[in-house]
Amino acid sequence: MYAPSPALDRATVESLLGAAVAAPSIHNTQPWRFQVDPRDRLVEVHSVPERTLPLTDPTHRAQHLSVGAAVFNLRLAAVHHGLRPEVALLPDPSEPGLLATVRLTGPSVGDDRLPDHGLYAAIARRRTSRLPFTGRPVPDPVVAEMVTAAHAAGARLYLPDFAGTRRLLRLTAAAEARNHAHPDRTAETRTWLRTPGSDIPYGIPVTALGPPDAAARIPMRDFTGRLPGPRLPALGFERHVQTALLWTSHDRREDWLRAGQALQYVLLTATAHGLRTSLLHQAMEWPDLRRAAAMPRGGRCHPHILIRFGYGRDGARTPRDDPRG
Ligand SMILES: Cc1cc2nc3c(=O)[nH]c(=O)nc-3n(C[C@H](O)[C@H](O)[C@H](O)COP(=O)(O)O)c2cc1C
Repeated sequence: MYAPSPALDRATVESLLGAAVAAPSIHNTQPWRFQVDPRDRLVEVHSVPERTLPLTDPTHRAQHLSVGAAVFNLRLAAVHHGLRPEVALLPDPSEPGLLATVRLTGPSVGDDRLPDHGLYAAIARRRTSRLPFTGRPVPDPVVAEMVTAAHAAGARLYLPDFAGTRRLLRLTAAAEARNHAHPDRTAETRTWLRTPGSDIPYGIPVTALGPPDAAARIPMRDFTGRLPGPRLPALGFERHVQTALLWTSHDRREDWLRAGQALQYVLLTATAHGLRTSLLHQAMEWPDLRRAAAMPRGGRCHPHILIRFGYGRDGARTPRDDPRG
């Protein structure tokens, strides 16, 4: 006889949402809200209108990347709990703020498109590290796994050679200079910074920021702008910067959500292998620079984010808000 699946228990729901919100998000905006129907075993993932960056991210592409990353964590956590996650992206055209639903069927033998290999454990360990890396080269098989991960999640990873990396860093530096020259953008970014003692559970604590590169080779984002006050002294960063450009061949909202899942798959793969990562998104925030960042001879290439990876110290922890608002 047909036996309906039991409702999701409270501990499982908490664990799933805890994993989801550990995802990276632009400026730690955490632009997601989750509505859970335990009986229906359904998680709805909504965007949060007030967690947007009107100047930095007017199309909400970066917001979709962030939510996609959270959806990926949710999928991994579901598999970890023996559940099968069935994901629908943008399931209801009449409700544009509903970015995804995840139905948790099961118990299952696991989502065979999502092998774990320590990825679930990496969710809690992954943090953005804006510190210098050692420069020790990352072995080819690890990089190959990162490429496979992006592909499996519906995106692509381009590994630029030395000249290609310089080109992408030059575009990032150009974007960084424009951001500086644009007081409204600088002010927008600054509103997401948190000083010590703040109990606001989103935004970036100043303790998670990094120093500038003394050789000015890596244009790390300067979140403080030209704020008066003490600045972190510049430090020597790795000479040979290892980067990867995440891209998709279309540029629709569902592609952004897929790219976000791919981003997180790549970051967790790197973390599981003991790498540290940081993100350089500045060039994607200016349409002409984003176009220029497309792979040379790449045909239809819509770049989404530049990932810097290597060995080094952990970044500092950032806070997380209640995922149900
Ligand atoms: C779409 C996107 C763009 C980001 N862009 C940058 C960036 O340009 N510079 C940077 O230092 N961090 C960037 N980040 C990292 C976030 O600031 C970081 O994920 C957030 O502060 C939470 O911290 P955590 O990654 O350590 O959990 C980006 C993250 C996402 C998802």
